[in-house]
Amino acid sequence: MKKLLLTLAIALAALPAAADEGMWLPSLISSRIKDMRTKGFRLTADDIYSINRASMKDAVVLFGGGCTGEIVSAEGLLLTNHHCGYDAIASHSTVEHDYLTYGFWARTRAEELPNERLNVRILVRMEEVTDRLAAGEEPKAIIEAAQAEGTGYRASIEQMYYGTQQFLFVYEQFDDVRLVGTPPSSIGKFGGDTDNWIWPRHTGDFSVFRIYASKENKPAAYSPDNVPYRPRRHFTVSTHGIGEGDFTMIYGFPGNTQEYILSDAVAYVAERSDPAKIAIRTGRLDLISAAQESDPALRIFYAARHASIANAWKKWQGEVLGIGRKRTVETKRDYEQRFAAWAAGQTEYADVVPQLKAEYARIVDPYFAREITSETLATLPARYTDAERAETFFARREPTERALFRYAFRQYADRCPAAYRIEEFDEGVAACGSPEAYADRLFDGVWSGDDTAPADRLKEGIKRVQKQIVDELGTANLRNLNSRRLNELYTAYIRGLRAWDTRRAFFPDANLTLRVAYGSVSGYEYADGEYHKPLTTLDGIIAKDNPAIYDYDIPQSLRDLYAAKDYGRWGIDVGDRRTVPVCFLATNHTTGGNSGSPVLNARGELVGINFDRTWRSTMSDIEFDPSICRNIAVDIRYVLFVIDRIGGAGYLLDEMTLR
Ligand code: ARG
Ligand code: ASP
Repeated sequence: MKKLLLTLAIALAALPAAADEGMWLPSLISSRIKDMRTKGFRLTADDIYSINRASMKDAVVLFGGGCTGEIVSAEGLLLTNHHCGYDAIASHSTVEHDYLTYGFWARTRAEELPNERLNVRILVRMEEVTDRLAAGEEPKAIIEAAQAEGTGYRASIEQMYYGTQQFLFVYEQFDDVRLVGTPPSSIGKFGGDTDNWIWPRHTGDFSVFRIYASKENKPAAYSPDNVPYRPRRHFTVSTHGIGEGDFTMIYGFPGNTQEYILSDAVAYVAERSDPAKIAIRTGRLDLISAAQESDPALRIFYAARHASIANAWKKWQGEVLGIGRKRTVETKRDYEQRFAAWAAGQTEYADVVPQLKAEYARIVDPYFAREITSETLATLPARYTDAERAETFFARREPTERALFRYAFRQYADRCPAAYRIEEFDEGVAACGSPEAYADRLFDGVWSGDDTAPADRLKEGIKRVQKQIVDELGTANLRNLNSRRLNELYTAYIRGLRAWDTRRAFFPDANLTLRVAYGSVSGYEYADGEYHKPLTTLDGIIAKDNPAIYDYDIPQSLRDLYAAKDYGRWGIDVGDRRTVPVCFLATNHTTGGNSGSPVLNARGELVGINFDRTWRSTMSDIEFDPSICRNIAVDIRYVLFVIDRIGGAGYLLDEMTLR
């Protein structure tokens, strides 16, 4: 009996975190190493993060403040996504040098293109400062002292678990980052918006940059005298590939998750906020698509706007479906009740759940009003610029722009809660007779540029009400349904949860700090009886290829290589066909910001670049469902194949460490 209990205790102690959920702090990764090794990882916690010797963290960068990148050579060569490098690529593209359409490959270092306003950050170290802050040290003093430690150092203090713990992050920031190469959009953005958030996927979503530094290897503003940065560490690239079941680790900068929010907040997202925002965007997308279909110049003009509206629009739809399917609201409610029952006997936590619920009841309306305003009135231009007016197709935009005004006004009128409406708006509607008539009145002045006063008045009203809402919520950090009071209550709630739910593996919500997620290459059951395999190949690209559809019109050189089966060292056998691997699915817990993250194998070698999730996985920002949540990566062998065979830039491979 004793032995049985002992065995049981050991089994429980070794219990892994629920499947592959979690985004873990690198400096605390030793608490996960046992689980990681059980799942196939071959290295140590020190290999992932160390301040005393070079470790993997030295090869991971925060790219452009919102994406991740990885260093792959001793000379500062960097990989990230095409969609992360997009602004840089676009800024160098002209009619004569259309790098977006045709791609770009620097033949020499001198041809690498500098980018104003693009920087990367490498983590020097992170350290918990909860006790120092509690002892009365000033955050500002801690940050300034850290920044004084080195050239180009940037530091910040970030809250974990709603402020239960505070960590200092010290980065070295490099401001001279140059574009080295990019595939044409027909590879880097293959499938466009149609395939965005979709599996099976065939996008070669990568671009290549290089970090430059002073001769002393320190951060420096752009100078022709700068030299390639010599990193402490760069990733070895594996050319052996990966297969279903293989261990994968993602090292990057996930932006924002809300894993611990109450059922009330989930219900708000899935039943009120997302559905409203989806519906509003559906209408905007319809208006823009109609313009795009009617006029080739407008198709191009509206492409970027369409893409950015559609990205979150699709993501929210997946989130709603995922939350409904998983019954997240119900299971969270049940969890809260069980916690509250335990907490009833603890003075510290007894009231926290009812108080959280009361605070949600207080803030949902103002928060919703703010979201509705951002999705409607705030999307409209207050001016058209001279550059816009000079476009030959400017006049042809008029019906679409007017329709967008009328639509936004109607949506705002119908959806914004009464107590938080903008006075100027209601007055305008009353004076003109309807939201549409008021929209026309205001639009006419903005469009002609002759009478922008009514639009400015409305803008003042928007600003005033938004500020009123921020004051009511007590915080300007309104990215998530949040208030100052909520934040305080959550600090207690999470502390209570950790005391009560001792078997749960807690990880702090993503907040654009460096994290490790691990899992494995894995397909999933997409629908009843419909299994999605985790690997795609060049054959799938050829099957989608269609010169008549912009998003699926691949370069002729790719067709030619396929026809000749001329894959060189990048060819693989899948069954009885010779092909090239393209993308793969894995179970890593990721979110926005993880784009461009290195996907590493059990030995810490680079096997892919993360760039997306399947749309129904996007619920993982709130609850990770292991049966359905999958991240999407481009296979590093496809990246190498494109650089080498399509880009003719095989010399870049020479500076990498291939294994
Ligand atoms: N869905 C991905 C992310 O959230 C990729 C977006 C860029 N690609 C696109 N076709 N819009 O960032
Ligand atoms: N595509 C996202 C990004 O750009 C990643 C994701 O949401 O999975 O960071």
